Amino acid sequence: MNIPVITIDGPSASGKGTVAQLVAAKLGFHYLDSGALYRIVALAAQQRNIAWSDALAVTACAKTLDIQFSNDRVFLNDIDVSDGIRTEAIGKGASQVAVHASLRAALLDLQRSFLKAPGLVGDGRDMGTVIFADAPLKIFLTASTETRAQRRYQQLLGKNQPANFEEILQDLTERDARDKGRASAPLAMAEDAILLETDNLTISAAVDAILQHFHHKIYE
Ligand code: CDP
Repeated sequence: MNIPVITIDGPSASGKGTVAQLVAAKLGFHYLDSGALYRIVALAAQQRNIAWSDALAVTACAKTLDIQFSNDRVFLNDIDVSDGIRTEAIGKGASQVAVHASLRAALLDLQRSFLKAPGLVGDGRDMGTVIFADAPLKIFLTASTETRAQRRYQQLLGKNQPANFEEILQDLTERDARDKGRASAPLAMAEDAILLETDNLTISAAVDAILQHFHHKIYE
């Protein structure tokens, strides 16, 4: 039997992470936070003084990493890096290492290994276009740059991290351009994906919409 996958792709701060985790919890599905993998690689490279632009060294470094997800926490070589990977600097680094095709290839099997019964919700940029291209339900979650910058700003303030709205807006714009413009698995909406604009949609409304689409898919 095919194990169902719901892919949720979209740009930074579109609400993907929160929405994807809630959908997974409601369905009792596994959850893949693929962005965390790129963030971990960026962090590990930084710790080893490897430049994020160095495709060969970054890929070699990624292949040595022991990455484990457990109870909403993520561990790199047995060290809890859940908070360390969430800084803006590491987010920027993640989008720089993510341009390397060799790194993306090295992370392919690890990502696909998350597909286990009863099902999976995959969150990222290329879940529906590359990693789980056969997924029966693909969602593309987005919002305007201003809305997303505002959300990221509030998120950082909530975590007592330094936040400057103008800088965040500029970083998001740069990150979007890099994610969409790269040659390997660029951020794009799959042809068969459903677009959800979240500017005027609450988290719970987005979750409900995805669950409804999923039920339609199953019973159609
Ligand atoms: O939290 P935010 O949405 O800003 O980012 P994330 O989902 O944690 O991903 C961080 C970076 O990893 C993104 O800017 C992408 O460049 C990259 N990424 C990717 O290339 N492919 C994925 N499937 C997931 C993330």
